[in-house]
Amino acid sequence: MNAQLPCKVIYDTDPGIDDAMALYFALAHPAIDVVGITTTFGNVTVEQAAVNALYLTAIAGRSVPVTRGVATPWCKPPEAPPAHIHGADGLGNLPHRAATSNQLDPRSSAQFIVDAARAQPGEITLVAVGPLGNLSLALKLEPRLPDLLREVIIMGGTISEPGNVSPLAEANIWNDPHAADLVFTAGWKLTMVGLDVTHRVVLPVSLFKKIADRHQHVATDTLHHAVGFYANHYGGVHPHVAEIHGCFGHDVLAFIYLVNPELFTLERGRVRVATDGLAQGQTMMRRKGVADYPQAGWGDDKPLTQVCMQVQAEACKSVLETALMGSWLSF
Ligand code: BDR
Ligand code: CA
Repeated sequence: MNAQLPCKVIYDTDPGIDDAMALYFALAHPAIDVVGITTTFGNVTVEQAAVNALYLTAIAGRSVPVTRGVATPWCKPPEAPPAHIHGADGLGNLPHRAATSNQLDPRSSAQFIVDAARAQPGEITLVAVGPLGNLSLALKLEPRLPDLLREVIIMGGTISEPGNVSPLAEANIWNDPHAADLVFTAGWKLTMVGLDVTHRVVLPVSLFKKIADRHQHVATDTLHHAVGFYANHYGGVHPHVAEIHGCFGHDVLAFIYLVNPELFTLERGRVRVATDGLAQGQTMMRRKGVADYPQAGWGDDKPLTQVCMQVQAEACKSVLETALMGSWLSF
């Protein structure tokens, strides 16, 4: 990564507590230039996701275009958002919100992605950390999108690690498996940052307290509050996470991969998604070098995905801390 030229990123997100953490990491990191935030349903409704993206950027003193995207999965029926994980408001049930005035960009998320990619071919990286409906819709609007984007990094899926919404499925993929399969077979430079690595990085709430104490700012106070709520959920499910009163970093790992890919071990393979049945949302990989299978759908015509399989967890924590402890909040 060239420190002189920050990487232009469209952040596709369903904020969401780890989404908020990832957003603030991206805004804080000097090598990342967030040129747009495209929201989707997922952790909250898409309306709330857009409100949260506008709010998080406004209280951080930033003005980034924010769009509203898909409200439901492409094919399967919608379900209620997981308020027990992210809060009914997606940010851990904030007791109070400051008055802000940032306004929504009127375009759909998919249209925004297409417009930006056409305007700056080869320059935009898409970091997607929610269900993948906006990307799949953008692909339908502009089939050349894989050539127009620089690369796509998603937080989603899992290969060896058990799922988090079923024994096999990770939440973002499960939320819109048909969209996800389209994304995995589109042919862009694609990296999957899934539970195989995000479950290895447990972040203590004390780190976010340290960051809040350092800045004494509404943005980092908001993040500290939200992460506390998130940790209460994860602590109830995973004893080793409860032990340090922490949470998984999930979405922020996609950005850490962008700036420090050397902290991840990759495998390459053809990834497909189970769209129906008990395994719905499962991400399956035919590893590179494995001979073709007799079953259709795994042939060499399907593109390769880079899948993060191992991570240097302590180094990731340091990268996160360094960025968020820096001077990124101007007032
Ligand atoms: C993913 O699901 C969402 O709840 C999180 O924001 C993250 O993107 C983890 O499975
Ligand atoms: Ca997310």
